[in-house]
Amino acid sequence: MESTQLLIQLSYVVAAGLFIYGLKLLGSAGTARRGNLLSAIAMLLAIVAALLDQGIVEYQWILIGFVLGGVIGAGAARLVQMTSMPEMVALFNGFGGMASLLVGVAAIATATGTFTLVTIVLSILIGGLTFTGSMVAYGKLSERIGSAAIVFSGQQIVNSLIVLGILASAVMFCIEPANAQWLYLVIGLSLLFGIMAVIPIGGADMPVVISLLNSYSGLAACAAGFAINNNILIVAGSLVGASGIILTQIMCKAMNRSLSNVLFSGFGSAGGPAEKVEGEIKPISVDDAYYILEAASNVAIIPGYGMAVAQAQHVVKELTEILEKNGTEVNFGIHPVAGRMPGHMNVLLAEADVPYDQLLEMDDINPRMENVDVAIVIGANDVVNPAARESEGSPIYGMPVINVDHARTVFVLKRSMASGFAGIENPLFYKDNTRMLFGDAKESIGGLIREFGN
Ligand code: TAP
Repeated sequence: MESTQLLIQLSYVVAAGLFIYGLKLLGSAGTARRGNLLSAIAMLLAIVAALLDQGIVEYQWILIGFVLGGVIGAGAARLVQMTSMPEMVALFNGFGGMASLLVGVAAIATATGTFTLVTIVLSILIGGLTFTGSMVAYGKLSERIGSAAIVFSGQQIVNSLIVLGILASAVMFCIEPANAQWLYLVIGLSLLFGIMAVIPIGGADMPVVISLLNSYSGLAACAAGFAINNNILIVAGSLVGASGIILTQIMCKAMNRSLSNVLFSGFGSAGGPAEKVEGEIKPISVDDAYYILEAASNVAIIPGYGMAVAQAQHVVKELTEILEKNGTEVNFGIHPVAGRMPGHMNVLLAEADVPYDQLLEMDDINPRMENVDVAIVIGANDVVNPAARESEGSPIYGMPVINVDHARTVFVLKRSMASGFAGIENPLFYKDNTRMLFGDAKESIGGLIREFGN
């Protein structure tokens, strides 16, 4: 092997190692930033090595793309609101799919042998459906299109026919690669299938869909790697494919739902029959809540989607510091699917500099709940719903939840009696030890902070 090739392959090995180590660091909130940075460096190394590897001559175009992409990426990452992060991920994911499709198409010119043709067709097919599927997911999440599940009679038959069409044209493409109509058919039908596969899924299930599509974009990249014979693309694509599917599984498990239930049931649009809840609501004022908090020696804060909506993370951090100064032990209970994307709460709290060791996972906080004086639920609903434990008929029965009702007193901070994502009643609000602190979470916590200041 000549020395440039050796250097290129060595760079690939280093990049692959950095990807794997970066992924490991991403597994914990404390090391995630470093993991992200290392993986980004690995990607840069991989791209530079791949450009040398492929003997590209027109570097000025690559430089223009590099600068443009960098500016757009940095701008989007800085400007995007935290609540809009899931849709940005969907958008970027779709672009990844489109990139694999384009690489696949470009590779046709130099393709030799059936294996390469199969990998080309796979990168086009998976890349195409990932692109349009992600665009629909983006549209639903950003509410540019209706987020309700779109279902019509005969949908399964139409989808099956599209899949058959894709398979037939893919086979024909491999037999007659010079006949462009098969290629156009594969591209067109894959793009159509991405749309058809995602429209019957309700907007609220989009995070799971995005994670799944993320896994597909990895598989498309992996296929593209085989198509252009590039080792690092194969490695990176496999890592994305595998981690995406693991994340999808984690989310489904945390919601106690199967992937097929998420993909085919139209959950969140239909809604189960409303269950009658016994008991009465007990609202509490900020001053009364202050007196109870002031006397508490152990407080658990359980954030949910409403904290993201209210952008309350900074005032939450401020309240935490005040409580600690007052001699109170404060911990956070983080449910794996609190919010609307994996790690949503961790990211928000990290932004407000809440120390990572204060963030306890559901399985760690639950056994401690009986010793908690006050559990403060901030804009969380489904993830603290005791119906998941107690009510067999509930749509969320069996979903693991944070047992805030086991604390001595529970404050629930939300604006109304509206339901959460699952659209069901929450018996927590009616329990004897629950007090409802109605209002925008940021304002309610601001009020508590002012009380402590007086
Ligand atoms: P939700 O059950 O969606 O409840 C959020 C609550 O926040 C609502 O009840 C809402 O009540 C309240 N809220 C909204 N804006 C607020 C504001 N400005 N101030 C105070 N409260 C506010 O949230 P959750 O408990 O975090 O559960 C997440 C749900 O999403 C789960 O059902 C989960 O399965 C689903 N899901 C999550 C994911 C991931 S990966 N996180 C993926 C798919 C599905 P008001 O309107 O009355 O204020």
